[in-house]
Amino acid sequence: MSARQAPRVLLMHHVLDPAPALLADAHAEVVVYAKDGSLTEDGIRAAVEQNGCQGILSQVMDPIRETVLSVPGLRIVSNVAVGFDNIDLAAATRHRVMVTNTPGVLTDTTADFAFTLMMAAARRAAEGDRFVREGKFRGWAIDMLLGLDVWGATLGLVGVGRIGGAVARRARGFDMRILYTDEVALSAEVERELGATRVDLTTLLHEADFVSLHVPLTAQTRHLISADQLAQMKPTAVLVNTSRGPVVDEASLAEALRRRVIFAAGLDVFEHEPDVDPALLELDNVVLAPHIASGSVRTRSEMSAMAVRNLLVGLRGERPPNLLNPEVLDGVVP
Ligand code: DGY
Repeated sequence: MSARQAPRVLLMHHVLDPAPALLADAHAEVVVYAKDGSLTEDGIRAAVEQNGCQGILSQVMDPIRETVLSVPGLRIVSNVAVGFDNIDLAAATRHRVMVTNTPGVLTDTTADFAFTLMMAAARRAAEGDRFVREGKFRGWAIDMLLGLDVWGATLGLVGVGRIGGAVARRARGFDMRILYTDEVALSAEVERELGATRVDLTTLLHEADFVSLHVPLTAQTRHLISADQLAQMKPTAVLVNTSRGPVVDEASLAEALRRRVIFAAGLDVFEHEPDVDPALLELDNVVLAPHIASGSVRTRSEMSAMAVRNLLVGLRGERPPNLLNPEVLDGVVP
């Protein structure tokens, strides 16, 4: 692309203000992905190829893999998300396509929602809502829909990056004991600040009243929580997943919830999203949400703007702030 040509961008889904204005100010030619276009690699490739796009603004459902990344002329894929498991980063690097994400802006909003799920599952909030709507509430009863206390309980964080750390900060206000597992230990200072103790996964599963998942989806974390791990948890434990669906073996979780191996779960993500294991839909002891952990007005708008800024900087041939594969610019790609 010459310096004077308007960059052409494939917008996979709409983004929120002020992102459209940022694209317009940069005189980007925006090609909107056909609403009825299927989210397949071939469909996306065809759209990039036919429109000669140099950039893609993608979201978590879009499979951006070799088929798409090998289109000549494609320079950058900017994901409107912190997670980027929908993009084959190694293939992007091989084809010298930059990939960016939106870290930081969604940390606290996502942590709020992990807490929302934790509390809703422990205190049976969704069940209570259904109970009232169904006209079953006939008066106060001492043993009605009894749940579990969050305050003072032990929280086990699987992964303590930005979002896991933000959940830990919230947990301090609930006087929770905090255990964590992570490949990399926090510094002694941060451990002190969070009041967090590093343990192995087995210890965490045995001791935690709440297990909250904050790891990216990788080959190592796929089905990290399966039947064996669920069996190690307390029968009073609650599992919360705001990371990625395939980190949990969903069929095993449904079975564990059905058999009361654990008390409850709160899920914002699903193994075969947007499909949900029908067995989960039958259960009262799971709170289900449609991947909305980062879904506040402010945060989704900041994610949109950040993704567009990443994209425009990359299209200018400069290094975008949230570049995931700097090798592409550093010229060390084999
Ligand atoms: C992310 O950012 O990775 C979320 O899953 C979508 O907000």
